[in-house]
Amino acid sequence: MTKKDKLSTEPYKGVRDFYPEDQFVQKYLFETMARVCELFGYEEYAASILEPAELYRGKTSEEIVNEQTYTFTDRGGREVTLRPEVTPTLARMIAARSREIPFPARWYTIANCFRYERPQKGRVREHWQLNADIIGVSGIEADAEIISVAHGVLRSFGADERTFEIRVSDRRILDAMYTELDIGERERKAVTRLLDKRGDAEHFDKKLAEILGDKKSSLLIAKLDSTTSSAFLEDLRAHVESLGVTNMTVDTTITRGFDYYTGMVFEVYDTSGENKRSLFGGGRYDNLLALFGGESIPAVGFGMGDVTARDFLKTHGLLPSYAPATELMICVVEKEDAAHAEMLAQSLRREDVTIAVNFSGKRVGDQIRQADKMKIPLIVTVGKKERENGRYTVKNLATGVEVNLPADRIAEHLFSALG
Ligand code: HAM
Repeated sequence: MTKKDKLSTEPYKGVRDFYPEDQFVQKYLFETMARVCELFGYEEYAASILEPAELYRGKTSEEIVNEQTYTFTDRGGREVTLRPEVTPTLARMIAARSREIPFPARWYTIANCFRYERPQKGRVREHWQLNADIIGVSGIEADAEIISVAHGVLRSFGADERTFEIRVSDRRILDAMYTELDIGERERKAVTRLLDKRGDAEHFDKKLAEILGDKKSSLLIAKLDSTTSSAFLEDLRAHVESLGVTNMTVDTTITRGFDYYTGMVFEVYDTSGENKRSLFGGGRYDNLLALFGGESIPAVGFGMGDVTARDFLKTHGLLPSYAPATELMICVVEKEDAAHAEMLAQSLRREDVTIAVNFSGKRVGDQIRQADKMKIPLIVTVGKKERENGRYTVKNLATGVEVNLPADRIAEHLFSALG
């Protein structure tokens, strides 16, 4: 095989492979997210990554649909999109059964999403997103609860409240300004999207003036810069404080990029300055479900990405250190000890011990080094002596402590040794 013929070991651009140590962190993220959602009474749902392309067209965000979706035509001529987010899927699923589902519905999912973005810090082409949404409540309690769930997830990761900030605004503030300045529907979408990027858009003022003209554009900026809060946002702050959230701030520059938001919107930021972009965000979307022809059903929720969550945890020293699921490795001294080692392993598995048999044929010293490298905490060596007297030495590789036991006492010892 020539060098040119060799297959590359690189994954597809912008997607990640999860080696066991990466997957360990991923699982920790997902389990923590799921646990917090369940503590708040959220039920888990799931759906396919494939959706008809029309689910997104003209309904979510022009930028995402036109520039960032993976869309293809299937063999039957249907246009298919790999979901770039889950909110339209959730809306579709709820709308399909809106008569049977008891409201308010609290649903969560941890779903992989695909966006054709330029890979950079915090942005990849496949990410996982926790979505937690409440459907069927238009009141402020639901907005407050969603913020409290988002806060709860970060707290459960061990994050101090001073290390992140929940910046909240309300689309209705923007809408009122648009109406006052007589800004039409088309311009509104473009302006809202531009505002979402105000922090990093070059020539922001110039671009805004291109959409609105000089006069309206400077009037809008003046209005925005002089608006600091609203009665609703102050009320919301009081609500979330009563739920124990003290790091919510009102920030009327927060807009969020999607067209479907109609009320409260928020973004969560790292206060350390290490991670500049928003960690995650969400908001209220009361009109999205009506697109499916039924009644309009109010909804509010958020999406938290795994990439930004990981970056945040890394910055603050909160990533867990790797521990494999395997508790014990059996090292095999000679070839003829292997069958006995396998038998011992099978009987311990029946007692719920996670166990790997090392049949590499290497020297015992090398087998132990391998267990150590794999961070397996305990080993048992099986040789002629163990086979004959039926007693085994369980060694803790971290402490060096050894305990000699008959087979039927090993499981019990392990559970106390490993806590
Ligand atoms: P979004 O802000 O587009 O909102 O995405 C939510 C989060 O997903 C982002 O804040 C970020 O953490 C993560 N994320 C998005 N795109 C990428 C990417 N290319 N690479 C890595 N992470 C990414 C939504 O998707 C809304 N549907 C959320 C929502 C749910 N609103 C209400 N309910």
